[in-house]
Amino acid sequence: MMKKEWWHGKTAYQIYPKSFYDSNHDGIGDIRGIVEKLDYLKELGIDLIWISPVYLSPCADQGYDISDYYQIDPVFGTMEDMDQLLEEAKKRGIGVVMDLVVNHCSDEHEWFKKACEDPEGEYGKYFYLEKKRDGKLPCNWRSYFGGPVWEPMPNSDWYYLHVFHKKQPDLNWENPVVRERIYEMINFWLDKGLAGFRIDAIINIKKPQMFRDYPADREDQLCDMGTVLADTTGIGDFLREMRDRTFRPHGAFSVGEVFNAKDGELADFAGEDGYFSSIFDFRQTVEGKSVDGWYRARIPSPDDYKRCCFESQREMEGVGFYSNIIENHDEPRGVSHYLPEEARNEKGKKLLAALYFMLKGLPFIYQGQELGMENKIYTAIDQVDDISSRDEYQVCLNAGLSPKEAMEVVSRYSRDNARTPFQWSDQRHAGFTKGEPWLKVNENYKEINLEKQLGDPDSVFSFYQQLIRLRKDPKYQDTIIYGKTVPILEEELGIMAYFRQGEGQKLLVAGNFGSERRRLPINGINGKKCKVLLSNDKNAEAEEGVLILEGLQVVVAEM
Ligand code: GLC
Repeated sequence: MMKKEWWHGKTAYQIYPKSFYDSNHDGIGDIRGIVEKLDYLKELGIDLIWISPVYLSPCADQGYDISDYYQIDPVFGTMEDMDQLLEEAKKRGIGVVMDLVVNHCSDEHEWFKKACEDPEGEYGKYFYLEKKRDGKLPCNWRSYFGGPVWEPMPNSDWYYLHVFHKKQPDLNWENPVVRERIYEMINFWLDKGLAGFRIDAIINIKKPQMFRDYPADREDQLCDMGTVLADTTGIGDFLREMRDRTFRPHGAFSVGEVFNAKDGELADFAGEDGYFSSIFDFRQTVEGKSVDGWYRARIPSPDDYKRCCFESQREMEGVGFYSNIIENHDEPRGVSHYLPEEARNEKGKKLLAALYFMLKGLPFIYQGQELGMENKIYTAIDQVDDISSRDEYQVCLNAGLSPKEAMEVVSRYSRDNARTPFQWSDQRHAGFTKGEPWLKVNENYKEINLEKQLGDPDSVFSFYQQLIRLRKDPKYQDTIIYGKTVPILEEELGIMAYFRQGEGQKLLVAGNFGSERRRLPINGINGKKCKVLLSNDKNAEAEEGVLILEGLQVVVAEM
């Protein structure tokens, strides 16, 4: 039996503060805006909020480039606002999870400034600094946002390493002093009463012992960081140390953004004695992606989606808990990405919601997902703020796509799809701000907004409320948290169905991605005995041994 932890039954909600709610009407969302909307979050029913970074930052990568870990950026508010958020959240039984960005800091952090002043001094050792060898950069790795990972330090022949943007120099985790300073900082925040941390880009903290070239995979003669990480071992020593010095003594929740974990390492990362409480399941988000860039990506079909979910569920069974998502601030909106075009309506959105939410693991809802917010249509690159979209646009052009074709690609995958302001109402700028929003709202806000959905028992919002309520229902809670996921009808195209097998209780979750009515043979189903707990269709029918699903219908039932 798995040891029970306080966070197992929680439902989490990701807030992207810049786009959530703007309380002072300067066009940028802020911490007070979150405080003002806590009652809304309570009404939705969630228990944990993860807030994307609000630390001091020049915002080259939307706060994921931190220039002071101990300060709140004035665009988001003050430390008093943060303390108030913690207090007000606590009153409502909501835990706050902050974002921990420690693979890199900002090039405007004082550590980096001191390193630039004296690359050979103490602070030079906080970063990875190298010189060219025979006129060549130390190695040919490509940064995630394009171009080589090496950038010259001002006025010197030293180069520093950045696996993300050049304004995000990587911190040297091999240096024990750096690790100490990081743990000190984490404990400072945990001592304030945080519930825990979401840990950014963490797999990158360990580099191969030697900066060496790998086979180039594009015309730029550089190689993907995935290749580099596959050749890296030894990250466990850092992660174990961090856990033991910070999260564990605080009993804190931690969820890792872990791409590229190696086969067989799952238990090390997310097992009972793992480095983290949980890690995100990204299998379906990377499905169809290509090292060549977004223009070569293939859109996953519902059957791809199902296969990915089931692979992850099988792999994690008996090990620990994945954190399950359909979107986040780096991904397109889930309903635009995973639902076939003809299914992108309220019924389809509820279908996807129930199918992912009922999987074993911790459900995370990204702001606006509970309204069924969709991708925005971007037609020119100057409408896009996100740095990775700008790089991918260039990659498209270099590959010979026309600007129009390049924009179609960028529009589909841009991180700015998820970053448009939350759609509170049908008022100007969707009620997000009375000023000019930093990023334009989605044009569809008159149709998709919270105000319209709040009192409507059939809205997407109400459906999410019901899913959360069901997860908390004492009668089903144990099965929903701990029950094994047993996939069924795996060969049925367009159908995703599974049991959650609990102790003496069995729940069925079944959905139809197609528009045709389907009759599905399900062992043990019985129209009279089976109790429908939730559905997105008025009728939910079953006969002896057969479940009937209308087009886009999803059913959660007790067998
Ligand atoms: C993570 C964040 C992303 C950021 C990157 C660099 O992937 O989620 O938004 O750009 O790390 O910090």
